[in-house]
Amino acid sequence: MDTVGQVDFARPLAVPPLAESHLDGDGRRVFDLVAQDGEREFVPGLSTPTRGFNGDHLGPTLRARQGERVAVRVRNDLDEVTTVHWHGMRLPAAMDGTPHQAIEPGETWEPTWTVDQPAATLWYHPHPHGETEKQVYQGLAGLFLVDDPEEAALDLPREYGVDDIPLVVRDVRLDGQGRLDRESRNPMGVLGDTVLVNGTAGPYLEVEDERVRLRLLNASTARVYDFGFADDRGFALVGTDGGLLAAPHRTTRVRLSPGERAEIVVDLVAGESTVLRSTPPDLGTGDAMTGRVGGRDTLDILEIRAAGDLRPAPPLPDTLADIPPPDPAESVTTREFVLSGRQINGGSMDMSRVDEVVVRDTAETWVVRNDHNQPHNFHVHDVRFRVLDLDGDPPPPPLSGWKDTVYVPPGGEVRLLIRFGPHTDPEVPYMYHCHLLLHEDLGMMGQFLVVEPGQEDTVGTLLDVDH
Ligand code: C2O
Ligand code: CU
Repeated sequence: MDTVGQVDFARPLAVPPLAESHLDGDGRRVFDLVAQDGEREFVPGLSTPTRGFNGDHLGPTLRARQGERVAVRVRNDLDEVTTVHWHGMRLPAAMDGTPHQAIEPGETWEPTWTVDQPAATLWYHPHPHGETEKQVYQGLAGLFLVDDPEEAALDLPREYGVDDIPLVVRDVRLDGQGRLDRESRNPMGVLGDTVLVNGTAGPYLEVEDERVRLRLLNASTARVYDFGFADDRGFALVGTDGGLLAAPHRTTRVRLSPGERAEIVVDLVAGESTVLRSTPPDLGTGDAMTGRVGGRDTLDILEIRAAGDLRPAPPLPDTLADIPPPDPAESVTTREFVLSGRQINGGSMDMSRVDEVVVRDTAETWVVRNDHNQPHNFHVHDVRFRVLDLDGDPPPPPLSGWKDTVYVPPGGEVRLLIRFGPHTDPEVPYMYHCHLLLHEDLGMMGQFLVVEPGQEDTVGTLLDVDH
């Protein structure tokens, strides 16, 4: 509906550094993250108070191989409680960084786990109960890339920061003094007037390869993007939240709601430039909601400038990953999750209440329905799920691979096939929630335990929480 702001593409795109790590005596790859306050000049002449990991804003990109044991020492140098959640990672609940793993100011938390999933673009961000929107909006977010041998054997661009470019996209609203404005919200949350890509406003990227891979993360707290190019060129969608698709999907648009990721591969011609642009997403809210819900802006995200001479790239592979069709017959239980208002199944998040108990190594069907006239999405911790259908129709190609977050339009219903485990813990829950972070903070979240067979009776358990 509106084009927000005029974008000058005057600043080179920042690329988050790869996090340093070392191997400890136990053979674990150890990373250090420090959550801290900072400031950034997003707009020339205006200094914006921000937060970041190991710096002023955002965080370094962690990277590990499938099968590797990792540990992350997370120190909280903020003046308030935080947590760090590994979004999309399969790991024990006590390592997940939910509100149950609070890190007090001055404290260090050291989760450790074995990376046990295929190559994917994952991310990390705080998850303190009621404060997630604020802390992510302030800039606490980073990527966690998983590598595996199958992906490494494919002819895909993979030189980090050269032809494999992370794009952490989030929108902010700056007040007259340059401070982050979080007060001007609509029912979705904050819809900003300034788009930051890896923390750069109005960025350009110079490219020297004829084929580049862009790893898009929607790190916004509320906005849904429909990414494409200003010249409507086609590109190949090669990966979604949980890893590579079975085969490249040729398209001109990819929609990402908060928390979702897409890996796309774009071809360039020597000397040209093109603009990555988000056009108004179809939120399924109907025109009557446009004014009230908002979020329907055209946003110019990034200008890509191809050098006069480009390194040639091999053709894209025809197939990428072995992804068998989801088999609904595997499902042993069906559960319903009705999204309405700021609640799920009529309830608000309660840290001491277990909402669902599932058994390790079983698959279930989770039916998620949006009974509300506003946009929501649905994210489940610890798992990669498959979409069985969307309003009864088979999933479109962008929803045909491994997912952990899915958009659910008003009146829409999505059925997910989810296999749980292998990690179990009868006392520490995982979360499921709307990833529009204002909604999550207002209680649109629930908790589930993954238990050993025979422990199902933990249903209704009250967890022992002290805050
Ligand atoms: Cu990215 Cu529970 O969240
Ligand atoms: Cu929501």
